[in-house]
Amino acid sequence: MQAQLNSKAENPKKKPIIFSGIQPSGMLQLGNYIGALRNFKLLQDDYDCLYCIVDLHAITVRQEPAKLRKLCYELVALYLAVGLDPERSLIYCQSHVSGHTELAWILGCYTYMGELQRMTQFKDKTAKHAENINAGLLTYPVLMAADILLFKSNLVPIGADQKQHLELTRDIAIRFNNIYGNVLTVPEPFIPKVGARIMSLLEPTRKMSKSDPEDTYISMLDSPDAVRRKLKRAVTDSEASIRFDAESKPGVSNLMSIYCSLTGSTLRQIEDDFAGKGYGHLKSAVAEAVIETLAPIQSEYARFMSDKGALDQIINNGAARARSLADRTMATVRKKVGLAPM
Ligand code: TYM
Repeated sequence: MQAQLNSKAENPKKKPIIFSGIQPSGMLQLGNYIGALRNFKLLQDDYDCLYCIVDLHAITVRQEPAKLRKLCYELVALYLAVGLDPERSLIYCQSHVSGHTELAWILGCYTYMGELQRMTQFKDKTAKHAENINAGLLTYPVLMAADILLFKSNLVPIGADQKQHLELTRDIAIRFNNIYGNVLTVPEPFIPKVGARIMSLLEPTRKMSKSDPEDTYISMLDSPDAVRRKLKRAVTDSEASIRFDAESKPGVSNLMSIYCSLTGSTLRQIEDDFAGKGYGHLKSAVAEAVIETLAPIQSEYARFMSDKGALDQIINNGAARARSLADRTMATVRKKVGLAPM
């Protein structure tokens, strides 16, 4: 991987670089999987990938320390369980590589308050955590920009809710480059066409989120019974016709998106296959597709969780490799900005 960051002239065969991260703020839900995690796996053959557990982002809302520590391991095990290969993809914790926060500080000096205050996620989170509107919630996207720019990443697999943060990352990189020359790589988002925004099962106009009440989302570790029960209760509408219309039929459209994403069917095929059938049929079909997807992941997850030592080794090794890549970018950034040489 180190060699991959050499210039193209030195290494004409270098693969483009992918960076993405997920917060260890709860066991992942189906939206995290469909919107991001499964693409991490699909892309790992064609890119040099860094997949981070963004624990520093998670502490922008209060976390219980022991639970946070445990969730980090659970997320590593889940990354492995979906098929990420630590030989090909660097897997590590954000807090283990100090370059993330160093670059975040520097980039914060090239980001405007107005830009941060306009972020939808900032507005949502301040409404949700009114008792704790800390500065980290505001500067959250700068740390995210630093995550991505630290590794000269070309592509960032994310769900639709992170698009605005990625656009800000691009703006910061362009602004920095306009001052200092071509230092930072301007990244592109990778957002799936279907499933970029999986919605809550009970309030299908809101995105599915791991920080909402349990019955609104499907956890990656839900048992088959729990999956069937939650989908049976999923909110639909009174029209009793299976067609995609996210505006006026958000619940049914959400179920169709989940089914499409997991089975590879098109929306058109689902409409044909389920023509004349009730919502109950659709819900059971979605439940079976979810159960079939999660079963192998859950058994792999249990296997990886049973060897904490191996998980430690993977994140320690990932962090060491990530640090050496980060150091290179930081050396250039420090020099360009005019910080005293070390
Ligand atoms: P996080 O931890 O909230 O979510 C992880 C990924 O899952 C996607 N996602 C969804 N996709 C579809 N439907 C949903 N309902 C859904 N909910 C979540 C998110 O878009 C995300 O891709 N700020 C990021 C973490 C982050 C990051 C980064 C991502 C920090 N640094 C650098 C990419 C690159 C976040 O909070 O994701």
